[in-house]
Amino acid sequence: MFLGSIISALAYATIALSAAGSVEASPVRRFLPWPQDDPFYSPPKGYQHHAPGTILRTRPVPSPLATLDSYTLNYTNAWQILYRTTDVRGKPMATVTTLIQPKNPDHKKLLSYHFAEDSSSEQCAPSYSLESNSNASYPVSPFDLMLIDAALTRGWYVNVPDYEGPHSVFTCGVTSGRGILDSIRAVLASCRTSHLKSSADITMWGYSGGALATGWAAELQPIYAPELRILGAAMGGTPSDVNATVNAVNKGPSAGLIPAGFFGLAQQYPELYAYIQSHLLPNKKAAFNSAESQCLGTVGVQFAYQDVFSYFKPNFLNGFVPEVILAENKMGRFKPRIPLYMYHSINDEIVPFAPTQALVKKYCKEGSRIQFVEDSSTHHGTLAIVGATDAFVWVIERMNGTPVKHGCSTSTTSLSTVPTSAATVFGPLIYAGMQAALATEE
Ligand SMILES: *[C@@H]1O[C@H](CO)[C@@H](O)[C@H](O)[C@H]1NC(C)=O
Ligand SMILES: *[C@@H]1O[C@H](CO)[C@@H](O)[C@H](O)[C@H]1NC(C)=O
Ligand SMILES: *[C@@H]1O[C@H](CO)[C@@H](O)[C@H](O)[C@H]1NC(C)=O
Repeated sequence: MFLGSIISALAYATIALSAAGSVEASPVRRFLPWPQDDPFYSPPKGYQHHAPGTILRTRPVPSPLATLDSYTLNYTNAWQILYRTTDVRGKPMATVTTLIQPKNPDHKKLLSYHFAEDSSSEQCAPSYSLESNSNASYPVSPFDLMLIDAALTRGWYVNVPDYEGPHSVFTCGVTSGRGILDSIRAVLASCRTSHLKSSADITMWGYSGGALATGWAAELQPIYAPELRILGAAMGGTPSDVNATVNAVNKGPSAGLIPAGFFGLAQQYPELYAYIQSHLLPNKKAAFNSAESQCLGTVGVQFAYQDVFSYFKPNFLNGFVPEVILAENKMGRFKPRIPLYMYHSINDEIVPFAPTQALVKKYCKEGSRIQFVEDSSTHHGTLAIVGATDAFVWVIERMNGTPVKHGCSTSTTSLSTVPTSAATVFGPLIYAGMQAALATEE
């Protein structure tokens, strides 16, 4: 994820709030408990004996889904579902997904939409920050909600999993991918509550941190969840190589992604946690460790423009422990079988273009079907907005059963504004919201 969008989320929310004139009317509110203090999130005893994807617990969302009161989703019902999944080491774990039922539901359509949580603390889980009564220090971006609304308007159910799991293992690919696949299994088994058909057509979508998770889900599907019939996945600004992003963002505005990513991996790999602690400089330890339990909003501000390696002894990343873990979390280990739509800015300053281009080449050589769009006018944050229309059109085609061409194709775009087709694809309200989001991102 990218700091520009945090800022634009806040700016957009402020605009919307003042337009609604609701600023002075906001009552003193009781916040929902953090996920770590909410018993719903703790799995029942013996849950590990159930198969991955098993529903462990369901409840209607405790408060309406919205962000900062400024953008309320248009839906009928929404549920939180605690389900069983598996981490990268094969250990059982339980995490939550939010399933949203549209107003005029098509019980045979499901979009799995993957937020860029980009944080190493459970308080940042989408299931929590999506709720209007959450005490989220990192509110979800209204832009994500607009895209979810667009899917709901089409009658699609939307699945929003906490794919980082209960320990928020940001950037851990296998855990994230399994978290997504098991959330899809769980919602397909939720028919009695949700009326979603177990035979529903499924698509997936994510950008940036959400694309990391989407890409891993696509890679793992043939081996981990071969029974899932997924029609395709759209992903943009895909961080195929975490190390490349670390090098790209250090000393820049998004340097906070580095501590967030290190702690995310360290939650999954205790040996990395120990390695980090033993390589921190004593006078920098407290400042660095404060990032562990914060969301990216806070971490991003704290670490902006810093040289994160100045917190460590020299050659921190060249040790055996980080090298093995970074290699294990580099995409391209497995071959996706589902069709992919990938979009990436050639000038992406956060997720470098070259490793993702190399990943596309590798996938294609191995027989994947990919439509790859490289854009020459945008950067990371702006492509998320201006590239969303074509990505969504591709997702709609998959949902409609339009066949995908064999092999791979690459095209180059030069998108500097939200395409006018967005007005037709998303409707005038979201089109205007996208333009507002783009104005604050630039
Ligand atoms: C809300 O979160 C802030 C920290 O982000 C904390 O200081 C405050 O106590 C929390 N409020 C409640 C009611 O939990
Ligand atoms: C909410 O969705 C329904 C059904 O799709 C639609 O008729 C209605 O106009 C939408 N309301 C808003 C405020 O977008
Ligand atoms: C990460 O990138 C740095 C700088 O390019 C390089 O020295 C290091 O070997 C890389 N590590 C891994 C695990 O790829």
